[in-house]
Amino acid sequence: MITVRTIPELRAAIAAHPGAGRPGKRPAFVPTMGNLHDGHIALVRQARPLGDVLVASIFVNRLQFLPHEDFDSYPRTWEADCAKLEAAGCDIVFAPRESDLYPEPQTFKLQPDPQLADILEGHFRPGFFMGVCTVVMKLFSAVFFASGGGTAVFGKKDYQQLMVIRRMVQQ
Ligand code: PAF
Repeated sequence: MITVRTIPELRAAIAAHPGAGRPGKRPAFVPTMGNLHDGHIALVRQARPLGDVLVASIFVNRLQFLPHEDFDSYPRTWEADCAKLEAAGCDIVFAPRESDLYPEPQTFKLQPDPQLADILEGHFRPGFFMGVCTVVMKLFSAVFFASGGGTAVFGKKDYQQLMVIRRMVQQ
């Protein structure tokens, strides 16, 4: 398992992977914010056979935290996360710094359909799904750029998030 920080490093690592660096080969991708538990690892195991190289990301996305939610105290458990990912068969961990995904203040944001994103959790956390969609679109373009597609796996525990992302991808 290798760890990469920047988008060019990620793309080079995917291209160099023996199973993936050829036409028609596609990544399977599990995005996370780290602090991994058994549910995340189940997603990694589920994703494993769905692609030719397995990429997991660890990125605590400031954009999906509301002003009163504490971004700084979100648990960061890097060593333990890497050990779990490696044991689950992950090939590449993409762990960008904020400056890699947000090199300047993010003034363009992806606006999800309010009918899906402004209800339930989105009602109580305004802007949350905008932050999620904006980072997921960036992660998808980083991971799937060369292959033009692939498979991303999201948990059903965050069911509304799954529906929002699925609709975003359909559109
Ligand atoms: O579900 C999460 O952990 C996050 O919302 C995600 C999809 C990794 C985006 O930051």
